[in-house]
Amino acid sequence: MTTSSIAAAVVQWQATHGRNHLPWQQTRDPYRVWLSEIMLQQTQVATVLGYYPRFLAQFPDVASLAAAPEDAVLALWSGLGYYSRARNLHKCAQAVMQLHGGRFPETAEQLATLPGIGRSTAGAIAAFCFSERVPILDANVRRVLTRVLAFDADLAVARNERDLWDQATALCPDPRELDLHDAMPRYTQGMMDLGASLCLPRNPSCLLCPLHSQCRAARAGNPEHYPVRTRK
Ligand code: ADE
Ligand code: SF4
Repeated sequence: MTTSSIAAAVVQWQATHGRNHLPWQQTRDPYRVWLSEIMLQQTQVATVLGYYPRFLAQFPDVASLAAAPEDAVLALWSGLGYYSRARNLHKCAQAVMQLHGGRFPETAEQLATLPGIGRSTAGAIAAFCFSERVPILDANVRRVLTRVLAFDADLAVARNERDLWDQATALCPDPRELDLHDAMPRYTQGMMDLGASLCLPRNPSCLLCPLHSQCRAARAGNPEHYPVRTRK
């Protein structure tokens, strides 16, 4: 296992051009990181910034959240939308208490068994909190990766989706590399930051992108062709 030149470029870029002062980046407490990732699933950062501290003030840990009535959780969620997220959040807190003794499991594989935690959210929590070498593949990162790789197989086909996950895994930094100490959290955030700032759905800023020289879609001049998905 070695660190891909893509991961090295993302890690370097993130340190100077990425977001490093978001409240959920100031902790490796899986409860706090998990909460932020669930809120950010369908809500913009600017909105989450208003809700996140209020939620944590009322529910500072997984035990307090699990013990709360569902109504109290939904009330704090009011305005964020997608209320199934809040119900799963509550269920997940109860599962952590009942099945894991109040401690979040420390691998993406185990995290993904919990209510509301899909493979990408599990990867984000495991990478941010435990530096596990697992990728994320949310909509932003999916766009960056399919462009860099010129991955044009239809992602509606499960086999292709699996293939992209495998390639995403292979690109992750090697955590043993000393000059990239603890690269997984920075790499994970960097991929998110690239997708949110430069590698936009329309008119990506390829000339400013740290992956420009390695990006197959930029070279071909057709980034907007990616990702390819025929049906939803
Ligand atoms: N969206 C999902 N996770 C995020 C994070 N950690 N920072 C910014 N935006 C995100
Ligand atoms: Fe996206 Fe352009 Fe960067 Fe390629 S070079 S990853 S298309 S912003």
